[in-house]
Amino acid sequence: MNTVQVDLTGRTALVTGAGSGIGRATALRLGRSGARVIALDLNEEPVREVVAATGGEAVVADLSDLDALDALHLRADIVVNCAGIQHVRPIEEVEPEKFSLILRIMLEAPFRIIRGCLPGMYDKGWGRIVNISSVHGLRASEFKSAYVAAKHGLEGLSKVAALEGAPHGVTSNCVNPGYVRTPLVDQQIADQARAHGVSESEVLEKVLLSSAALKRLVEPDEVAEMVLFLCSPPAASITGASMVMDGGWTAH
Ligand SMILES: NC(=O)c1ccc[n+]([C@@H]2O[C@H](COP(=O)([O-])OP(=O)(O)OC[C@H]3O[C@@H](n4cnc5c(N)ncnc54)[C@H](O)[C@@H]3O)[C@@H](O)[C@H]2O)c1
Repeated sequence: MNTVQVDLTGRTALVTGAGSGIGRATALRLGRSGARVIALDLNEEPVREVVAATGGEAVVADLSDLDALDALHLRADIVVNCAGIQHVRPIEEVEPEKFSLILRIMLEAPFRIIRGCLPGMYDKGWGRIVNISSVHGLRASEFKSAYVAAKHGLEGLSKVAALEGAPHGVTSNCVNPGYVRTPLVDQQIADQARAHGVSESEVLEKVLLSSAALKRLVEPDEVAEMVLFLCSPPAASITGASMVMDGGWTAH
């Protein structure tokens, strides 16, 4: 699926969580559009595979270590904050350390990366920040307190970056998918099927997609196309927005 046509030659694109799922699809897509890719992930092998295809640079780093992240001095014209993890428990059972970890990876690390990259974007008069949020940046679900809190925080950060970046040619947006076919979701389907004693297809339709009008998962390549579109000239007026790709979930 190569529908959006954009020439990103001369642009550097940093993608976090580039080793898997949405981040992987996005890094590959931006690379195919000519960007020099900096693919960051916790896991070395998958991120090296991505860079073998795109060229550019693989960075193996743990985003939860914020000072180590700052020390990498990552700089890019396009930032895609994508890395994330999920933790499904009622609030009273969530370990405070786990809550902090999720906020560090999914909110504080994006802040550090944006903070580090903005001056270079301002110097060039051009920059694109794309934050992979979620329906859960706009809506809550029970048992996902840290994830929902982090994504709602990311929405706020993205909007402030949009306001501050606008005079400098920098846009900042969120992309808000419903459930996407990635390892993160495959694991949830398997867990829920076990927990409820039902088949995986039943979990998909009756649990994960119960609020969506379109009863299918979003594909990682579809999200990657949206990211690319946000880096394209026709998207120059889109900033501070949340680009919902949820099969109608939030239409309710
Ligand atoms: N899959 C979905 O249904 C869905 C829906 C909406 C939003 N999202 C969001 O999209 C993003 C990507 O999700 P995905 O489904 O592709 O997940 P995924 O599990 O396939 O990939 C996530 C990647 O992030 C990396 N990562 C995790 N913790 C890290 C850390 N501390 N430091 C560096 N890298 C780390 C992992 O190694 C992995 O490669 C997440 O922010 C997620 O919240 C996913």
